[in-house]
Parts: sequence; C-alpha cells; structure tokens
Amino acid sequence: MNRRSFISFLGTGMALAPGVPSLLSSCTSGGRDYLNQPLKGIAPGAKDELTLADGLSYDIISKWGDPLSENLKFGYNNDYLAYLPQGPKEGLLWVNHEYVNPILCSGYDPAKARLRAQIESEMEEVGGSLIKLKKDKKWQIVHGHPSNDRLTGSQKIPFEWQERVGNATEATGTLANCSGGVTPWGTILTCEENYDFFYGEKNFDDGSYQASELQWEVFFPKNRTEHYGWVVEYDPASKTAKKHIALGRFAHECATVQALDDGRVVIYSGDDKNGGCLFKYISAEPEKISPGTLYVGNFETGTWESLDMDKAALNERFGSETEMLIRAREAAIRVGGTPLDRPEDIEIDPLDGSILVALTNNIPNENYFGSILKIKEESGYDGLRFSWDTYLTGGEETGFACPDNLAFDAGGNLWFTSDISGSSLNASPYTAFGNNGLFVFIREGINAGRVIQMASAPNDAEITGPCFLPDGTLLLSIQHPGETSASPSQLTSNWPDGPGNLPKSAVVAVYGDFLEDISS
Ligand code: FEO
Ligand code: CA
Ligand code: CA
Repeated sequence: MNRRSFISFLGTGMALAPGVPSLLSSCTSGGRDYLNQPLKGIAPGAKDELTLADGLSYDIISKWGDPLSENLKFGYNNDYLAYLPQGPKEGLLWVNHEYVNPILCSGYDPAKARLRAQIESEMEEVGGSLIKLKKDKKWQIVHGHPSNDRLTGSQKIPFEWQERVGNATEATGTLANCSGGVTPWGTILTCEENYDFFYGEKNFDDGSYQASELQWEVFFPKNRTEHYGWVVEYDPASKTAKKHIALGRFAHECATVQALDDGRVVIYSGDDKNGGCLFKYISAEPEKISPGTLYVGNFETGTWESLDMDKAALNERFGSETEMLIRAREAAIRVGGTPLDRPEDIEIDPLDGSILVALTNNIPNENYFGSILKIKEESGYDGLRFSWDTYLTGGEETGFACPDNLAFDAGGNLWFTSDISGSSLNASPYTAFGNNGLFVFIREGINAGRVIQMASAPNDAEITGPCFLPDGTLLLSIQHPGETSASPSQLTSNWPDGPGNLPKSAVVAVYGDFLEDISS
C-alpha cells in the first residue's frame, strides 16, 4: 500500500463504532496544538544513543541489576510495560524480562563449557518485575516498597488446568516473557514467547528433541518444554501467578484483553513465528479467564474457528484436550487457521474499536518489512465473523520496517516500535532504516496520515513496551543494546552508562510538551 492509499484507508478507519466514546471530539475541544502545527520527527539514526525528537527528553526509571528492595533486583532484557494507577501520582508498573544474553550477563565464554551456576543465575534474570512508581517532579521507583516483587525462572507456578501438564501440576518459573495484557480485575497477563530458546522443543510424533540455544534443559531436564509457552496471570495484590492452559501453547507475543458487558473477556494473542496464527479466546464466566474457548482466525473465510475436541480433525489426531492445547499450533492449522507473517503485538483502536495486529515480517517468504493488519469484528468481540485489511505497510516509502509493539495515546494516535533483528540492522535490505525506532501515526489534524519517527534506539537495541501514564509521560523499554557483542571486551554498545561499561537494558520515562499536548 502506498502513502496515498493508506491515507485514504485512514479515512475509512475514522468512523466511530456504535458505543465507542469519541476521543476525537474530546481531543478537538482540548486545544491540542499538534493538530494545527507541523510535527517534526527525526531521521533514522545509527548512534549508540537513545535519540529523541526535538522537545522530548528522558531519564532512566530502572536498569538491569538495579535493586528494587533488599532482596530483589531488576532483571535482564526488559520488554512489556503495564501501568496500574493507584492515584494521579502513584501506581504499580509491571515489567517483563524476556531473555538473557549469557555472554554479557552470566560470564559464559563460548569457547568453554556451559556451567550450571550460569544457568541458575540466568533464571533469576527472566520473568518480570513489579515496581511501585511515584511522581514528584519526575516518575521514580519507590525502593523497598512492600509492593515491589519479582517473578523469575526458578519459582514454582501452578497450571490452571484440570489435568497434569507435561506430567506435572506446576512449572519451574516463567521465561521468554515478551508482551502481555491487563485484565479488568487488575491482574497482569505476561506471555511466554520463545520458550524453545531456553528448553528446546519436543517432536511430539517421534519423541525426539530439538535442543535449545541456552541449554537449560541439559542441566534441568525435569523442567519439560511443555511447561512453557503459556499465558501467565500474575496478581499484584496477592503476588501469586498461574499458567493458563486454556489459551493454548505457542510463542505468545501478547494477550490483549477486551472486556464484554457481562464481565467475560475476549483475549487476542498471536503466535510469533513465520506462519504463526492469530488466536482469540472467549472466557465462559465473568471476571475469570478459565474456563473458556480458544479460536483461531481463518482469513480466507473471515471466521474464528474453535479448537473444539469434538471436531474430527482434532480428536483423530490428539489423545486428549490437554495434548491438543500443548500442540495448539498444529491444532490451529488442522481447523483452518491461516498462517500469518509473524503476528506480534495487538491493540484495540480506541476510536473505532477495530483490532490492530503487527505482522513484523516473514523473511523466508521475502516479506522483509512487515505491515499492520486491521481486523473488524462483524458481530461483536464474542462473535465469530470478521473482516480485515492492511492498515499500514512497512517499507522505505513509509519509513519503517518490522513493526512490533503498538500503543494508542489519549488522542487516538498509533505509536509503534520496530524490531529489525540485531544482526540485520544497518545492512541490506534494512540500510535505509538505521537503528530500530519508535514511530507515531497521527490520526487527525494537519499531520494526519503521517508516520513520524520519534526515537532511535542505541546500537543493536529494540524499543519495546510503549506505555502511556495518565499525565502523558511515555515509558519505554530499551531492550538488548549491544546484543551482537562478541565478548565483554568487544562491545557494540555501552548504553546507557557510557564508554567502558557493559550495555544494560533499561526502562526510561520520556517527557515533553508534545506528550503533554496529546494528553491535555
Ligand atoms: Fe519477543 Fe515477538 O517479540
Ligand atoms: Ca515483541
Ligand atoms: Ca519482536
């Protein structure tokens, strides 16, 4: 889609769905200067800095290894951010910690054997952090606050399911926590994505095993791969977690929640792999996730197809519902699920209620730049018919490639981040895009229809987890700076501490007039 056609497509996207409050009318009456003034972004960058558009500035909320409380430390590779307000100037921030780089975080030397002690320390680096935030002049962590907490790769987490899963009732830890969601009852959904990187994957037909990159299964063989790849629900009030088997096992990027009027929820989640499907889950009872029904999108018929064990395609193949859900990717294809180009983050458009899905790329299929897909439910969020179209297409004309995380601001503008892989950055066919970035797609006023780059990441890094606080402050996770470093003495990034220092992932708070203007 070229610039002209996506602008005209924007026109079709501006119609308000019945019952959707008009943020547009509230923003036109708010005196927002950005509607009438040309917005200036930045050019693609290749500096080892977090570069921001003019008028924006940042400071660091927390970085790898920072103490949260006496016995708690902030983990590695921060990703998804979710904010639970507790008043105008305080709240709880959830942060996912997705994966580890053993060369930079646990002393692993690729020329030597892997050690159990390295993996034990890495287990404490993944999962998530819960942090009390308060605003004085700026937003800051409240160190030692009783709400501060960690989920890690070593804690016991029960399965929410009626049968044993991988011959166990609980998992050791959560990992690969990429993006997530928030429920209407104030719990966090943290999604296990590339679990095979930690514990490999089983071939369920012949029992053979594909080894993992990190070799955790070599030292911890009781932690079976079937224990990972789930949506984990964490309750900040009780500091407890559980893994929801009913949502299926795959590389869950996120779990985007839409509440229904009767208290049930609909949860959208994509399987982030080449040819992965888009799933939707509908809970059966109010204010709880399980039980419920899992569906997969068939984009040829525009229908959501249930993963119902009464279907011959499933009961002929799988011995039980538990086995089918463990092998949900395979089950999805069997009931007509359409393979997509790596579905990543999902957000619901506050202006028209449609569902946007980032399709980051599919390099084996020669889709290098990705797109953002728009889905319209034809009979409500719990209905089974949908239509779809392409909303934005990556490429040099639009100025972005490989969209990943999505977030809407208070004015209904779409912010999104790019995830060109560290080894491909600044190389063909991605040379024009520079380092990974943060972009905004303006919906109204004289800048409507423009994609504007607002930030450029440090070397090798990806900007993840965009999250707006109620005062307009934008929180970002800066993930994996320097991830292609060959060793701690051959670093490709020293962000954020500067020359001579190990690179560290960090959560930053971005401030500026433009952000205040949008939220005014
Ligand atoms: Fe962890 Fe699909 O990004
Ligand atoms: Ca992601
Ligand atoms: Ca990604």
